[in-house]
Amino acid sequence: MIQNDTFLRALRREPTPHTPVWLMRQAGRYLPEYNATRAKAGSFMGLATNPALAAEVTLQPLARFPLDAAILFSDILTVPDAMGLGLSFAEGEGPRFARTVRDEAAVRALAVPDLAKLRYVFDAVALIKRELAGRVPLIGFAGSPFTLACYMIEGGGSPDFATVRRMAYARPDLLGEVVAVNARAVAAYLAAQIDAGADAVMLFDTWGGLLPADAYRRFSLGPMRDVLAALAARPGPRVPTIVFTKGGGAWLPEIAASGADGVGLDWTVDIAAARAAVGGRVALQGNLDPLVLLTDPDTVRREASAIVRAAGPAPGHIFNLGHGIVPGTPPENVAALVEAVHATSRTVRLAAAAS
Ligand code: CP3
Repeated sequence: MIQNDTFLRALRREPTPHTPVWLMRQAGRYLPEYNATRAKAGSFMGLATNPALAAEVTLQPLARFPLDAAILFSDILTVPDAMGLGLSFAEGEGPRFARTVRDEAAVRALAVPDLAKLRYVFDAVALIKRELAGRVPLIGFAGSPFTLACYMIEGGGSPDFATVRRMAYARPDLLGEVVAVNARAVAAYLAAQIDAGADAVMLFDTWGGLLPADAYRRFSLGPMRDVLAALAARPGPRVPTIVFTKGGGAWLPEIAASGADGVGLDWTVDIAAARAAVGGRVALQGNLDPLVLLTDPDTVRREASAIVRAAGPAPGHIFNLGHGIVPGTPPENVAALVEAVHATSRTVRLAAAAS
């Protein structure tokens, strides 16, 4: 039993007393206690691969703010790391792979990893669930097959992922194989997170928005649909799913038809227009510009309340940012945000009930 299940109810589009809120990268470098634990772990991967420390940082933002969900502390790149690509995070530089997947031989050598290599993730999920003791739900996650392919092919971050986009035109067969292997790996990985106790799972498709519409359907949305179908076909209780394609605003009706229960919106989307475009078919998650959190509490309250009001009184809104919290965010602005979402959404519901 979960005491505060507003997040799960909103995902099912059931009424809730307030709009639930959680934030992408809610455990991260804007929190001094995160930086202290990370220093103790020695490196980002040292932190992510230690279940006790991963559980500790997962719970840090919940100790400060009345968030309505926890998200597993890990990274999307654990999956290609387990495929043998050799992940590291150089200080201040972001992710790097020792090996890339660019030619025929490298693509043929790819396989769904042995899930035993990702045991640290499932152990962290089980430990977090135990420590949460039913207070709020725990969200598990994975990268989308395409977003993982971006890092695997490019070998790290990139301003434009030009190598991947060139491959989409020059060797669509090879890119298609990479995302197909990734889809099977991600489905197995999320299923294992669910078995370990995750109450919902989210696909982070950070780079799908770089593609033309037909390539997006083929290389990003299609493989995500395959992941969702594989999860839906599992025996046992259905765990709700969220798909977030950053830059996917133009394709919302198609994303909403993917089989996901919720669709994440980046900050460029008008959330009222998004609701009109998808009707009542899915929950919507978003979509405050993370840079608003670099202003001041009054501005944060004003902008957050505007999104709550624009989302409307109907069930099915989960408040979040349009992308992850940025490192310089003052924690007091996060406190103001969570408070404003809860207070404004209660007021909106009371007004709707009275009219
Ligand atoms: O949301 C959460 O609080 C859960 C934890 C989480 C992290 N990464 C922790 C992290 C999640 C859900 C992710 C997803 C992730 N990782 C994505 C998809 C979402 C997005 O942000 O677009 C991507 C593309 C990655 C890959 C990745 N990991 C990059 C590009 C970087 C470096 C950039 C940066 O912000 O420094 C990471 C590292 C990372 N993952 C950090 C955290 C808290 C910072 C690393 C540190 O502590 O040094």
